[in-house]
Amino acid sequence: MSQSLENLPPIEEVYDPTSIAYQENPIPQCLALASRGPLVWYEPWQAWIMTRMPDIMDCWKNEPLSSDFYDWEFAPIRPPADQWSNFERAMIGHSLLADHDHHRLVRRVTAPAFSRNVVDEIQRRIEPDIKKLLDDIGTPEQFDYIDKVAQHIPFISITRMIGIPEKYWPLFKTVVLTFTEAWNPTISDQRRAKAREDSNQAIDIILEVIAERRQSEQQNDFLSILLKVEAENEGFEEWDIVTLVLALIGAGADTTLLAQQWTVYALLKNPDQIPAALESPEAFSNAFSEVMRWSTNSKMGFARYAPEDMELLGQQLSKGQMVLMMPHLKDHDPAYYDNPSQMDVKREFNPDVLFGYGPRYCIGAALAKRQIYLTMTELFKRFPKLSLAGEPERNQADHNSVSFTQLMVNTNL
Ligand code: HEM
Repeated sequence: MSQSLENLPPIEEVYDPTSIAYQENPIPQCLALASRGPLVWYEPWQAWIMTRMPDIMDCWKNEPLSSDFYDWEFAPIRPPADQWSNFERAMIGHSLLADHDHHRLVRRVTAPAFSRNVVDEIQRRIEPDIKKLLDDIGTPEQFDYIDKVAQHIPFISITRMIGIPEKYWPLFKTVVLTFTEAWNPTISDQRRAKAREDSNQAIDIILEVIAERRQSEQQNDFLSILLKVEAENEGFEEWDIVTLVLALIGAGADTTLLAQQWTVYALLKNPDQIPAALESPEAFSNAFSEVMRWSTNSKMGFARYAPEDMELLGQQLSKGQMVLMMPHLKDHDPAYYDNPSQMDVKREFNPDVLFGYGPRYCIGAALAKRQIYLTMTELFKRFPKLSLAGEPERNQADHNSVSFTQLMVNTNL
């Protein structure tokens, strides 16, 4: 294997997610990267890329690597505890991302906050907001789906899910849109500092809402459930709630925005699949995994950090080096999927890893699928003849994913 690899061009010459070619069709580059071995050094990012599913599954399940951004060799210096702002307090002190044992405790005790009943209740709450959003579009001949719908959905769902009162919404909105930048390794220090400042403001709001909620009656939202969890569980404290709320914003905003765009795009490119995809929430759940597989829109994968100098998959890693797990490299590999270029919403996934696997399986998976299902059913009910108004332009400024600047659709009304 190493013999044949020696004759190949350097990987950065064939794999470049910042290139126009990748934005237009990432598949050949993903397949080329996957063929280079299980753990590939990628010089432009100073990171290792983990390419194969069995290794990724093992990493998800057994967690040999750290998930703590501050363990990254290029992360800002971890400040001493007496200099922490609220941001560090939430992200270091009680981090869901840091200590594996504490993470497991948090996931175990908070599981009731993500039960089927709670998701049903959240759906009941966001349904009127989503209907209103679509009603407000009216009956234009054409509109931009991102501007009119997609970009509003994460905010609606997350604030309703957590139970942030509407009086705080204007301030909270900025943070929902910029929060992930607070630890995005690919952006400037200046932009990261601004996002951190916004996050500190959001934390002030969260603390205020928690204080108010302590004084009011138990409600059936996420915050109220977490306050109950706090009262009943030693080792789970107010700052765990803050961390969790921030994690929901961080992990639930960009992902949903992207998923909304690609779901509309994929369904409109394969209109014969729409009825089967929207048949029921369960059918959509599977269809959504297929939409995301077919779309292959990831550029970065999931970051982990070597906790010490170590050997992994035959390579020597230095402490602090980043490892990016890239499960999407398999998405158009004929060794994994029959006829991978065809979108088939009935395709079976076993296992389905769209939302991760193991202890860090996505907390918001049920909510994400439900909110997108809800939006799609309302959208196609209002606009049954919806079609794409041309091929959407890719957003060059998006470092994490292949996304669109606009998604213009014709209503044919
Ligand atoms: C289409 C939408 C989404 C996709 C594809 C997605 C996918 C994922 C994946 C793959 C992971 C594991 C990441 C890793 O191993 O590093 C994850 C974790 C997570 N997701 Fe999602 N997600 C989505 C939406 C959401 C939403 C809407 C929320 C919350 C409202 C959310 C909250 C989280 C949280 C908090 C974690 C971290 C869990 C932990 O570390 O224990 N996600 N998600």
